[in-house]
Amino acid sequence: MKPVITIDGPAGAGKSTVSKALAARLKFIYLDTGALYRALAYKALKCRIDVNDPDKLGQLCSNTDVILKNKNRAMSVFVDGEDVGNKIRTEEVGLAASTLSTFPVVREKLLYLQREAGGRGGIVAEGRDMGSVVFPDAEIKIFLDADVGERIRRRHDQLVEKNSSVVLSDISRDMQARDHQDSRRKIAPLVAAPGAIIIDSTSLNVSQVVEKILEHISGVHD
Ligand code: DC
Repeated sequence: MKPVITIDGPAGAGKSTVSKALAARLKFIYLDTGALYRALAYKALKCRIDVNDPDKLGQLCSNTDVILKNKNRAMSVFVDGEDVGNKIRTEEVGLAASTLSTFPVVREKLLYLQREAGGRGGIVAEGRDMGSVVFPDAEIKIFLDADVGERIRRRHDQLVEKNSSVVLSDISRDMQARDHQDSRRKIAPLVAAPGAIIIDSTSLNVSQVVEKILEHISGVHD
C-alpha cells in the first residue's frame, strides 16, 4: 500500500500549497481537512447558527450532509449537494471553522470521512490533527511551521491575489485568535505528532519544502 503523508501546522504556514505540490509530484490524493470544517462553518454562517452553541452544532451536524468527491486526485467538499469550493475561503469562514472545530460533536462527524478518504493510502492529508488523531499510524508525518509575521504576510498576499479587500491588522488579529484557539483546545489540538519531522518554512520557498519532504520520504523507504 502507498503511504499516508500527514502535514499539520498553523494557519498560513504553507500547508495547502506544499501538500498540493507534493501530492502532484507523487501522484497521490490531496486531502484538505480544513475544508471540511470550513464547509460546516459556511453552512452555520448561512443559516445564522451560533458556532459557540454545542446543541445548535449538534443539530447542524445531524441535518447536514457532508461528502468528499475525488476529482482528479483532489477531494472536493459538497455540503447538502452544493460544491462549496471557493465560498469557504474567507477569513470569516476560517475563524468560524476554528471555533466550531473545538466541539467534539463536530470532530466526530468529520473523523470517519477523513479516515475513509485515507484508508487506502496514497494520500497527502493536511490539517491540524492529521498525524496525532486522524492518521496516527501514518508512515510520514510533517509539522510545517513558520514565523507568525511571515504567515500573516503570506495570508495577506493570498487574499489580495483573490481580489479580496483586506487589512493587514485584521488578518493579524484573526490569525492570532485562530492560533490560540487551534492550539489550546481540549480535543485534537494543533501539535507536532510524535515522530513528526518539523520543518520551519519561514525562509524556504514551496519547492524547497517539497524537496525536504521528498528527501525524508526516500530516507524512510531506503
Ligand atoms: O486549514 P484551515 O485554515 O482551512 O482550517 C480552518 C479551521 O479548521 C482551523 O482554524 C481549525 C480547523 N481544523 C481543525 O480543527 N482540524 C483540522 N484537521 C483542520 C482544520
